[in-house]
Amino acid sequence: MAMQVKNDSVASMIEWLAKYGKPEDEGVTRLLYSPAWTEAQNALKEKMDCIGLQAYFDCVGNLFGRLPGTTCNSKTILTGSHIDTVVKGGKYDGAYGIIASLLAVERLVKLYGLPKKTIEVVSFCEEEGSRFPITFWGSRNINNMYSLNDAANLIDSDGVSLIQAMCDAGFDSKNYTPPTRTDIETFIEIHIEQGIVLEKNQKTIGIVSHIVGQRRFNIKINGDSNHAGTTPMKYRKDAITLAAEFIHFTTDLANEENSDLVATFGKILAKPNVPNVIAEEVQISLDIRHHDDAALDHFCERIFSYLKDKAAYSDFKLSIKQWMDVKPIAMDADLNRCIEEITTIKNIPYQYIVSGAGHDSQVFGSKCPTALLFVPSAGGISHSPKEYTNTEDLEKGIEVLTELLYKLAY
Ligand code: HGY
Ligand code: MN
Ligand code: MN
Repeated sequence: MAMQVKNDSVASMIEWLAKYGKPEDEGVTRLLYSPAWTEAQNALKEKMDCIGLQAYFDCVGNLFGRLPGTTCNSKTILTGSHIDTVVKGGKYDGAYGIIASLLAVERLVKLYGLPKKTIEVVSFCEEEGSRFPITFWGSRNINNMYSLNDAANLIDSDGVSLIQAMCDAGFDSKNYTPPTRTDIETFIEIHIEQGIVLEKNQKTIGIVSHIVGQRRFNIKINGDSNHAGTTPMKYRKDAITLAAEFIHFTTDLANEENSDLVATFGKILAKPNVPNVIAEEVQISLDIRHHDDAALDHFCERIFSYLKDKAAYSDFKLSIKQWMDVKPIAMDADLNRCIEEITTIKNIPYQYIVSGAGHDSQVFGSKCPTALLFVPSAGGISHSPKEYTNTEDLEKGIEVLTELLYKLAY
């Protein structure tokens, strides 16, 4: 196999990939099955072809670049991350993991030829849950944790269904069969930390010991709309007021209970959303995370009994829909020890770290030995156009990833 090794630097590839979904200075928006998503996946497929990998899509749009191992029927070492982003996100979240894996494989073939075990680079179609109320659409399909039924009634904020968007992007649901992979021996992901710990501690590599559990809810509160001027305060059923009390109670409790638990109200929608009408309805999103499932249970029990009591007392209608429940998970200790050895020999400052962000690694972690590596995020900023990691740290990450893949596949 002719492996054309191009000397694309990681910084230029980050800029190259970021242009898919990047209106000027407003961050990167590359939502599942959007035109920017399609362009980015096709551009990555071309890149995989040109560096000599066997590039192919599965039926939901996960993109793979395969480097067959010399041992026949070998299992596969999978490495990569997700191509989708949040709205107006950064250039590195997900993208760096895909680019780093491509560059690591390029270097391995240049230095050592073909591996014994097959290596595949993957660009997962979706991880964030930014367009449709579902997360890990790529990695959970690969691990037989989703089927088309899980997407059946999902629509985005414009009313477009996931199934329709998938068809429009060229992945017709009529061709859908669960793209389950049973040949994955190990999954390795490298990602930006999206937090401030590595920078504060002046470490270049984070070895993730655990990834937090995550629960996401859509909450709808219905009161009565009424005139803002003629309705005395004591006769109001103001949905915004109850939502505000709930938000306040929840964030106070998160601050009290323990510093590791985080609760975020990212989305809020009022109806009719005009200044001189008491709001009839409020829809809010809630994202709660912790590395201990029991702590999540306890916290959810407290906040939702508060909300239900307040709503019942003042006769509000309430709907609480949980659409995500991902368990906390430990990464593979043997792989982490191997990474520790590599960083020690290379004299690269590292530390163990808990990931507060969700990652495709937590899907694979329940199925096969999995490791997640972090490089620092400047100022701990992520999910923002200000997301940045310096080139030296990006490069060190690729150096460690390359060495790890060598130990696993050669
Ligand atoms: O939200 C997260 O934790 C990740 O960036 N998807
Ligand atoms: Mn990510
Ligand atoms: Mn993200």
